[in-house]
Amino acid sequence: MCGIVGYVGADSAKDVIVDGLKCLEYRGYDSAGIALVSKGKILLRKESGELSKLEKKITAKDFDGQIGIGHTRWATHGSPIRENAHPHLSTDGKIAIVHNGIIENFMQLREELEREHGVTFKSETDSEVIAHLIGLSYAENGGDLVLAVREATGKMHGAYAVCVVAADNPDTIVAIRKDAPLIAGTSDTGSFIASDIPALLKWTRDIYLIENDELVVVNKDEVRIYDADNTRVKREQTHIDWDAAAAEKGGYEHFMLKEIYEQPAGIKETLEVRLGKQGDIKLDGIELSKDYLDNISKVYIVACGTASHAGLIGKSLIEKFAKIPCETDLASEFRYRDPFVDEHTLFICVSQSGETSDTLEALREAKRKGAQILSIVNVVGSSVSRESDHVFYTWAGPEIAVASTKAYTTQLMAFYLIALKMGEIRGVIDKDYQKKIIEELRQLPAKVEKVLEGEKLIEEMAKRYYKKENIFFIGRGMDVATAHEASLKLKEISYINSFSIAAGELKHGTIALIRRQTLFFVLASQDALFEKMLSGIEEIKARKAQVVCITKETNVRAEEVADETFLLPDCMDEVAPILAVVPMQILAYHIAKLRKRNIDKPRNLAKSVTVE
Ligand code: G6P
Repeated sequence: MCGIVGYVGADSAKDVIVDGLKCLEYRGYDSAGIALVSKGKILLRKESGELSKLEKKITAKDFDGQIGIGHTRWATHGSPIRENAHPHLSTDGKIAIVHNGIIENFMQLREELEREHGVTFKSETDSEVIAHLIGLSYAENGGDLVLAVREATGKMHGAYAVCVVAADNPDTIVAIRKDAPLIAGTSDTGSFIASDIPALLKWTRDIYLIENDELVVVNKDEVRIYDADNTRVKREQTHIDWDAAAAEKGGYEHFMLKEIYEQPAGIKETLEVRLGKQGDIKLDGIELSKDYLDNISKVYIVACGTASHAGLIGKSLIEKFAKIPCETDLASEFRYRDPFVDEHTLFICVSQSGETSDTLEALREAKRKGAQILSIVNVVGSSVSRESDHVFYTWAGPEIAVASTKAYTTQLMAFYLIALKMGEIRGVIDKDYQKKIIEELRQLPAKVEKVLEGEKLIEEMAKRYYKKENIFFIGRGMDVATAHEASLKLKEISYINSFSIAAGELKHGTIALIRRQTLFFVLASQDALFEKMLSGIEEIKARKAQVVCITKETNVRAEEVADETFLLPDCMDEVAPILAVVPMQILAYHIAKLRKRNIDKPRNLAKSVTVE
C-alpha cells in the first residue's frame, strides 16, 4: 500500500526521504515521487515503477533541499503511470501534497474545482483534488498553511493521511490524518513525518503516534500536534523496540499470518465500496447490460492456483444467482484445447497479480475468439487488468507471502457481488433473497474476526497433527473448492503430501488409501449437505481413520461423530466458504511453523509465475 515520508532538517531531504521510502518498499507500490522546497520553489520528480528508477532521476545537485515529502503509490484510482504518482501540485505550483487513503467524494470535488475554479487536472487520481483545494485556500488566506489544510480536509469524505509543503514556506510540513496511519518523530538533525514506523527507525525510535483528526506541524526542531479544535495536544512519545523487519510485518512473525489477519478489513473494503446507501450493488468498471447477459450462452472462469479455487465458488454463485451456465478451467489447460468460446461467452479471469502468464495467455485466446473479458484482479494496472474489457479490483492491498490468503477471500467477495448483480440485471434473483445475502455478506468481517479468535485452538490442533505425512481434505458442494484450497495451502508451505477430493468421490477409489490414523479434514459448512457429510464421516471412522470436522456451531451432531471439530459462526450456506477457509489457512500456517518451514517464501514457489 502507499507509503509517506517527509523530512525537514539539516540533512539532504532527498536522501532521508528515499531511505525512508525504501523501508516501506515491502508494502508494495507501483510508482514513487518526491517534492522538495528550495529557493521559493517546489522541485518535483516522479516515476512509475521501482524506487530505484526515481533515484536515478534525482541525482542532480540542484535537486535537493532541507525539506520535502515523498510517496510510494499502490494504485487505486487511476493506473500506475507517472502522471498519477504523488506528490501532486496545486495549479499555481505552490503547494505539493502526498496522500494515503481514498477520497470518497473526489468526483464531486473534482467537478466543482473544474466548474467553479477552472482547474485542469493532470492525473486520474482522487488525491489531486487535495492539492487544488489546499492551493486555493492557501492563496485566499494569505499563506496560512494550517488553515488551508483544515479548510480543504473539511470538504473531504473518506480516509486520508495527507502531508503538505508550500513553496514559500521552507520550514514547515503540515500533515493531517483520518482513518489512515500517520506518525512523526524528531532526531538531532531534524523532524520526520511518515505513514509507518519502519520508515523512521533509522533515525529515531521515539515516535509520536498521531490520532484521528489531528493535525501536525513539523518544523526542524519540533513536532506540534493539534486536535480537531486546533488545541495543542501534549503527546508522549512511544518508544519502539522492535527491529525493522518485525515492524514491516506489523508485529506478526510472518507476512502470511499478517495477511490472514487482514482478511476482515480486506473483505469489508471489497464489499463496502461497492454498496450504495440502500445496500444496492454498484460495480464501477463493469458494464454488463441485460441484453448482453440474456444473450450469452455461458460464463467461462479461468485462473491458476488459489485463484482457480475462487473460480470454482464463482461458478456456483453465478449459476445460483444469475442463472447462467458456467464453466471453469485451469488457465494452463484452457490454452491447449480448442475450447468453445465465442462472442456469446463472458470470460472471467481471476488473478491476484494480474501477471500470471497462463492466465494472461488464456485471456488473449478468449479475446481472439470474440469473448468479452471481465477480470478480478488485485494489482491495479497489471497486464490482465489492462487487457480486459471490465475489471473488478479486489483492493486487498499487497499480498507478500507466496501462499495466497487475503487475495482469495476478497476474490470470493468479488464473485458474490458480480453474481448478485448479474442476477439483478437479468431480473432472475428474488429481491428479498438478494437483500438477505447482502446482509449476510455485511456480517462476514465480524464473523471472520470470530474465527480468527480461534487461532489458539487451531495451533493446538496443529501440534497434534504436524508430524503426519499424508492429510486428506474432503467436502461437498462449495466445500469441495475449500477442500482444494485447504490442501493447496498445506502442501505449499508445509511440504506435507495432501489430497483433496469431493466427499462423494471418495468411495470410487481413494477410499483404498484409508488406514488406521489416516487424517481427514472434513469441510461441512453447508447445512443442506450436512447429513450426507455425516454419513461420509461414519464411513471414514469405520476404517479407523481420524476426522476433524469444520462445520457451523449449530451442527452439534458433528461433535458426536468426529474426533474433533472446529466450529464456525452460524451463517447462510451461500456465504460460508469465506468463513470455512480461514481455519484451514491458520492450520497450514501453524503446521508449517512447527515443521520450521520458510513460510513466506516456500521452496520452488514464486508469488507470480510469469513463465509458462
Ligand atoms: C502462483 C502462486 C499461487 C497463486 C498462482 C496464481 O502459483 O504461488 O499462490 O495462486 O500463482 O497467481 P495469480 O497472481 O494469477 O492469482
